[in-house]
Amino acid sequence: MTTIDPERRRHLEAAFQTTFGPPAAEGLAHAPGRVNLIGEHVDYAGLPVFPMAIQREVTILFRARADRTVRLANCDARFGPRTFALGETIGRYPGGDWGNYVKAAAQGLAGRYGTRRGIDAVVCSTVPAAAGLSSSSAVVIASAVALLAAHGATVEPFALMEAMASAEQYVGTRGGGMDQAISLGARRGCACRIDFGPLRLTPTAVPPDWRFVVAHSLVPASKSGAARDAYNERRRQCEEALAAVAARLPRARRAASYADLLARLPAAELLALGDRLLDEPLLRRFRHVVSEGARVPAAVAAMAAGDAATFGRLMDESHRSLRDDYEVSCAELDELVEIARAAGASGARLTGAGFGGCIVSLCSAHTVGGVLDALARCYYAGRTFEGILDTHLFVAEPSGGAGVERA
Ligand code: GLA
Repeated sequence: MTTIDPERRRHLEAAFQTTFGPPAAEGLAHAPGRVNLIGEHVDYAGLPVFPMAIQREVTILFRARADRTVRLANCDARFGPRTFALGETIGRYPGGDWGNYVKAAAQGLAGRYGTRRGIDAVVCSTVPAAAGLSSSSAVVIASAVALLAAHGATVEPFALMEAMASAEQYVGTRGGGMDQAISLGARRGCACRIDFGPLRLTPTAVPPDWRFVVAHSLVPASKSGAARDAYNERRRQCEEALAAVAARLPRARRAASYADLLARLPAAELLALGDRLLDEPLLRRFRHVVSEGARVPAAVAAMAAGDAATFGRLMDESHRSLRDDYEVSCAELDELVEIARAAGASGARLTGAGFGGCIVSLCSAHTVGGVLDALARCYYAGRTFEGILDTHLFVAEPSGGAGVERA
């Protein structure tokens, strides 16, 4: 069931009627954003990640059309109306255009499942854009769910997660599969360990007194904009580091992936091997991927055991690794992490691809108030603007995955 509140729903319905006129919309698709708790920049290396869906989501009110046309309106005035035709090859809008995320889903579905029925649709999002909370994949997933429903088709969820992960590469970022998988497969009250090759989701209940506070650095991190090239470069370096290490291993131990490497050798041995075989900056990239790969199972176990101190320590280590070895942090994110820690959080780290966007910090029911206050003060002291609280500073609620209902 979507978390859409009645007022927002009325707003969507009014926008739909004004834009497209009668008859009324038929369906409401929804897909959540996510906060990644640990396992950053490792999904494309085939290693597990540990995100949870959040209460912020993309909702699409739609009705099927008889032809191949997709007409889109957006509740946010910054994102203008778009119209395109469905097909196996859909030309892109210029880089950074919001309509490309709908086109990504449409082209991916048309190629694989032959979906050819267009929609009239109003899109509305409460996931802050370019914040590292996966607003773009939420658009992709909500669009896919709406287009499939309009076509009267259903696709097995794991197949759809994988199809949409490759479909989103349409925008030019060589992302992994975390965001699409969690948006579709999240379970309310839980974080999910996601394994790749084969794709698997394993939920762990978030302990009732744990609170994950999300705070935006106000530095935009746009997946299809400035952060795209830096992201793709990290992925390339991560692949080069693997190839360089694998090539030096005896034939019998030669690994084709980071998962193979970690299965064959303990992380400490791999790190020593990296030290011997790699030069900068590949050495540092390798160190991040291998150490983060080892932190994820430890963090999952810590959550299952209700051990906030260990989970927090792993988050701190993850942030240091992303800052120093993977070099995807920035001064604003580092500052927020320090503020959250000083105010009593058990741990804090940047979340998502970095280069701006948000931090996530682990608090208890007891410390959460102080951490929220300290972070809010930082906004007032510096880069403040109205409405910042709630949209950009909030306690993330572990939420359920995408779906569609009759309008
Ligand atoms: C983006 C990508 C994900 C993942 C994260 C970093 O959100 O879409 O696949 O790589 O960055 O962990």
